[in-house]
Amino acid sequence: MELVFASSNEHKVNEIRAIIGSAIILKSLNDIACFDDIPETGSTFEENAGQKSRYIFDRYHCDCFADDSGLEIDALNGEPGVYSARYSGSRDFEQNMQLVLDRLEGQNHRTARFRTVISLILNGKEHLFEGSIEGKITLQRSGSKGFGYDPIFQPDGYEISFAEMDPAEKNRISHRAIAVEKLISFLNQ
Ligand code: IMP
Repeated sequence: MELVFASSNEHKVNEIRAIIGSAIILKSLNDIACFDDIPETGSTFEENAGQKSRYIFDRYHCDCFADDSGLEIDALNGEPGVYSARYSGSRDFEQNMQLVLDRLEGQNHRTARFRTVISLILNGKEHLFEGSIEGKITLQRSGSKGFGYDPIFQPDGYEISFAEMDPAEKNRISHRAIAVEKLISFLNQ
């Protein structure tokens, strides 16, 4: 089967391709020559994922899915949440991580989670899938793999950050992996 993933972030597309396997041909927005700036104006991951998948469905009438993810930090009332990509006002990962570290300065309560919501539109009907991974925000950056907030996120049960982890291991346990696995088992039903 063929599915369009409403993302032009090749890092994410490849991460999901690695999880999804060869039974599903995954096309990115680049593959379908969609270069639109898709609106993402919701206040929840569910709203944003749904907005993106419906946008693609309305224009291309194909089976498709979109995801929205982010980091929720308990001591910051769930921030950066849907604003994860531009928390500091810029898309620069370093600046966004620094802002998190600054806001948590002196804070011992550092629990956090990454969360992903996937909105699938199959035969015109929407289905939602969620994945999350609990952990904590470290005192400083460590590691250079991955992207985003990986250097300051330590998943529960590990003594290393996401950015120090083998990518295959991250793909096995991540919020995105959990949501994608739910998507795949739904598609296989
Ligand atoms: P997106 O909705 O998947 O594009 O994620 C939005 C933002 O959340 C990204 O720009 C990152 O800052 C952050 N984020 C999402 N997933 C991850 C992850 O696996 N590692 C680190 N940061 C992430």
